[in-house]
Amino acid sequence: MSIKIAVFVSGRGSNLNAIIQAVEDGELDAEIVQVISNDPEAQALTIAAQHGIETFALSHKGIKRREHEDRILEHLKGLGTIDYIVLAGYMRVLSSHFLKAFRHEDGYFSVINIHPSLLPAFPGINGYEEAFNYGVKVSGVTVHLVDEKVDHGPILAQVPFPRFAEDTLDSFCARGLSVEHSLYPSVLQQIAEIGIEGLYLSKPEQRNREKTVKK
Ligand code: GAR
Repeated sequence: MSIKIAVFVSGRGSNLNAIIQAVEDGELDAEIVQVISNDPEAQALTIAAQHGIETFALSHKGIKRREHEDRILEHLKGLGTIDYIVLAGYMRVLSSHFLKAFRHEDGYFSVINIHPSLLPAFPGINGYEEAFNYGVKVSGVTVHLVDEKVDHGPILAQVPFPRFAEDTLDSFCARGLSVEHSLYPSVLQQIAEIGIEGLYLSKPEQRNREKTVKK
């Protein structure tokens, strides 16, 4: 089934680009309804426009988080069906107020994120740098459902990659980014094919929560 997604970005847009390429190459059965950014200057917006994808930018500067989120929610309402919000380097934490608008009947939020570490290690905005500086020998990339905590929620996929002795931070990041660029489109395609439910291993307490929400 084709999925309708809104991709949220804040910067460079290399993951957005990988998702667009996968759609254009027929490897990802998705429609990118719109690309949304909290930074009107984000390079990702230029990438979207070059591919004929509609964009919407609303800076978070000078307004309260609640107002920023409400204005984005209001905007999303006007776009019709959105199956999933796909965070691709969106560097704003989404509050539970925002997430509630995307609660699936099975209990999770239909919001997906990619993070440059093997979560729960190294959450936050500098995943590569922190893993590299820590001296890990193996790092990785995580795609997960978003919950109320930062870089947290049911894990959909993880792919490890090695850190070699001769690595610089740049070579380490480049290895990770190439993992991201193949992983994110492929997880989204799995979601299009089999849905979210088949992809995550829910914890007992989560299963209970899902049952409660279903009632
Ligand atoms: C990516 O490395 C992504 O995993 C990371 O931001 C980068 C965005 O790059 N996301 C996070 O750190 C989320 N906490 P991109 O704009 O080139 O896709």
